[in-house]
Amino acid sequence: MATATFPDGFLWGAASAAHQIEGANINNNWWEFEHAPGTPCAVSSGDACDSWHRWPDDLDLLTSLGFNAYRFSIEWSRIEPEEGEWSVAALEHYRRQCAACWERGLVPLVTFHHFTTPRWLTARGGWEASDAPERFARFCDRAVDHLGDLVGWGCTINEPNIVSFMGYLAGIFPPAVQDVERRRAVDASLCRAHRLAVDVLHGGRGDFPVGLTLSMTDYQAMDGGETQRDRIRRAMEDVFLEATRGDDFVGVQCYTRMRVGPTGALPAEEGVPLTQMGYEYWPQALEAVIRRAWDVTGAVPVVVTESGIGTAMDSQRIAYVTEALAGVRRCLDDGIDVGGYIYWSLLDNFEWVLGFAPTFGLAAVDRDSFERRPKPSASWLGAVARANAIDVPGRGA
Ligand code: BGC
Repeated sequence: MATATFPDGFLWGAASAAHQIEGANINNNWWEFEHAPGTPCAVSSGDACDSWHRWPDDLDLLTSLGFNAYRFSIEWSRIEPEEGEWSVAALEHYRRQCAACWERGLVPLVTFHHFTTPRWLTARGGWEASDAPERFARFCDRAVDHLGDLVGWGCTINEPNIVSFMGYLAGIFPPAVQDVERRRAVDASLCRAHRLAVDVLHGGRGDFPVGLTLSMTDYQAMDGGETQRDRIRRAMEDVFLEATRGDDFVGVQCYTRMRVGPTGALPAEEGVPLTQMGYEYWPQALEAVIRRAWDVTGAVPVVVTESGIGTAMDSQRIAYVTEALAGVRRCLDDGIDVGGYIYWSLLDNFEWVLGFAPTFGLAAVDRDSFERRPKPSASWLGAVARANAIDVPGRGA
C-alpha cells in the first residue's frame, strides 16, 4: 500500500438529485411517467427520502463524515410550477439550502436540470419545443438571480446524453420515444440550452464556475469494433463534449465500461462481476473517461461529479472507489486538472425506472421512518476526504 494525496482544495463530496430524494415532486414529467398506465417504473418516487424536509439532516451527515462539498439539484417544476409563474418560496428553500452548505463548510455544487422537466413544458413538447432552450435559460436566469451569490459551482444540465438516449432512442425514460431523428433534434436542443444557460449563469448574480455534467463510458473496441465504437461514442459523448468547449469545467460521470464489436455493443465479459444495475464492475473506467474528456475538450478542467456503484455489498463500494480514485490520481500525475471527486450518491434513493432497488448510497434510508443509516463506506470515504489522501495498492504520493 502507498498513500496517494490530492491537491489542496480538492472537492470531496456526495451527490443527489431533487427528484430522487425530495419526495412529492408531482409537477414534473417523471411523476407523470411513473403514474402513466403501463409505466415501466417499478414504483412511484412517492416520498423518496423526504429530503424536501430533511435536507438539514443530509447536510449534517455530510459534514459529520468529513466532506467539504455537496452536489444537489434544484427542481424546475417547483420553482416555475406554471409557465412564467415563479415560486419565491421554492427559491427561498434552495437559497436556505445553499447558505446552510456554506455554514457547514460544504461547497454547494448546484445542478439546474437533473432529468426532470415541468409538466407545462412537456405538455407542449418538452425538449422538442422550439423555445425549450430559451425557457430553460429563463429559469436559470430567475434562479441565479435569487441564489447565485451562494452557488459554489453551477452544473447546467445533468447528463443530456442520457436524457436524449434513454428518452428518445431506448424509449425507457420519458417520453419513451424510439426515433433516431427526434433524438438528434433533442441533442441539439440540449446543447443549445446548455450554451444559453452558461451565458445566463455567467452574466447573473454571483461568480462561480459553470459546466455541464456528462455520462461517460469507457467504450472499448474489440476485434474490429473501432468503427462502431467511434459511432456510438460520437453520439453519446462527443456531440456534448464539443458543446463544452470554453466552459469552466466539465463534470465527468462514469459507472462502467462497454465493449463494442463490429456489430455494436457486446454483452458483459464472462467472469467480470455485475453490479445491481447489470453493469460490469469496472472501476478503471473512470480514469479512461477523464483522459478522454480532457483530450476531446482541449483541456477543459474536469470535476468527477458522479462516480459510484449500486451494490448491496458495502465492502465492494470501498474497493470500487479505491480503484477509481487511484485512476484519478494517475490523471493528476499526468497533469490533467481534476478538481474533485463527488460520489454518487449520498443516500439510497429513487433510481428512476428501477425504483428503490439499486443501492448506491453511502447511507441507507429507512423506507418508513426515513432515518439515514450511514454505511461503513460513508465513514471510510469521509476519512479519505478529511485526510485528502487514500491508501492505494502500490504507488507513492
Ligand atoms: C444519474 C443519476 C443516477 C445514477 C445512477 C446517473 O446516470 O445522473 O441520476 O441515479 O447515474 O444510475
